[in-house]
Amino acid sequence: IKRSFSSTSALNRQINSVTVIGSGLMGSGIAQVTAEAGYSVYLVDQNDTALNKALKTIETSLTRSTKKKFNKEPDHAVRYIKDTMDRIVTTTKVDAGAEKSDLIIEAIVENIQAKHDLFSKLDKISPNTTIFTSNTSSLPIAEIAEAVSRKDKFGGLHFFNPVPVMKLLEVIKTHETSDATYRTLLEYGLSIGKTTVECKDTPGFIVNRLLVPYMFEAVKMYERGDASFQDIDTAMKLGAGYPMGPFELIDYVGLDTTKFIVDGWKKRFPEDPTFQSSVVIDQLVAEGRLGRKSGEGFYNYKK
Ligand code: 3HC
Repeated sequence: IKRSFSSTSALNRQINSVTVIGSGLMGSGIAQVTAEAGYSVYLVDQNDTALNKALKTIETSLTRSTKKKFNKEPDHAVRYIKDTMDRIVTTTKVDAGAEKSDLIIEAIVENIQAKHDLFSKLDKISPNTTIFTSNTSSLPIAEIAEAVSRKDKFGGLHFFNPVPVMKLLEVIKTHETSDATYRTLLEYGLSIGKTTVECKDTPGFIVNRLLVPYMFEAVKMYERGDASFQDIDTAMKLGAGYPMGPFELIDYVGLDTTKFIVDGWKKRFPEDPTFQSSVVIDQLVAEGRLGRKSGEGFYNYKK
């Protein structure tokens, strides 16, 4: 297999095939960047509707990113997109990839029972050399790993939305992840062109531990009536150089996802005043205003 990043490909000979489970926003992005780096990818979800939607998302994203990259060579862009798409096999059968893959990345719903059921099945069908990872943003990696016997081959790979654009990959080590597994995960991150940071298995790892309380602080400022949400966004973009203001970002990540992360932390750490829920977010989620994906959150995207 020819890798796009030849300088790092030699490092990563332990991995050839990768299975990504869950084909939502994160899973489809992870499958895309992994296939772009030359790996063969199995993308798994429960039904063909979800998988077809993911393939469409990937194709749109590749069309967008290749436009600039190959602007003088449109033929190259067409071939690049085709080659990348050809490396992705979609399937509703989790065994198809699990039996052959060297690395499994789970990006399913943030539900510990669903993750345990999945990983205990995978533990039985995957070769004992296969490394398991989760892209969770709210659950401890060690708790997910309780479902498997290969705890030394279990770690976290936390990506950021939009996966093809955001350069960071947080690589999480539990107290049982072996050094060899951890090295392989860092090398995989480099091979897909990401900058990796090493994180312990702490709530929110690095980015979300800082970003989510910041977003909630912004919502509280709005709830108190200190400023409009539009002005808070303008202030943080122009005064602090953020690409999106906190409300645009909450809409982008999804109000339900943001709420879910904080609710989980609040339950685990009831004494910590950093982890507080928000009346406005609870209300918007109850109304189905989940952000960009539902057409409306703080802002209206239907226009
Ligand atoms: N696929 C491919 N390319 C994409 C893309 C996608 N899905 N989305 C954007 N791009 C490309 C565009 O084509 C464009 O490329 P170019 O510069 O070569 O023309 C470039 O990215 C910039 O896009 P736009 O010009 O459309 O818009 P912006 O300049 O506003 O950038 C953004 C969009 C990259 C999303 C930027 O606003 C941003 O960085 N926002 C912050 C995102 C962020 O903080 N993400 C982390 C959220 S937290 C998280 O994910 C963790 C989870 O656990 C909750």
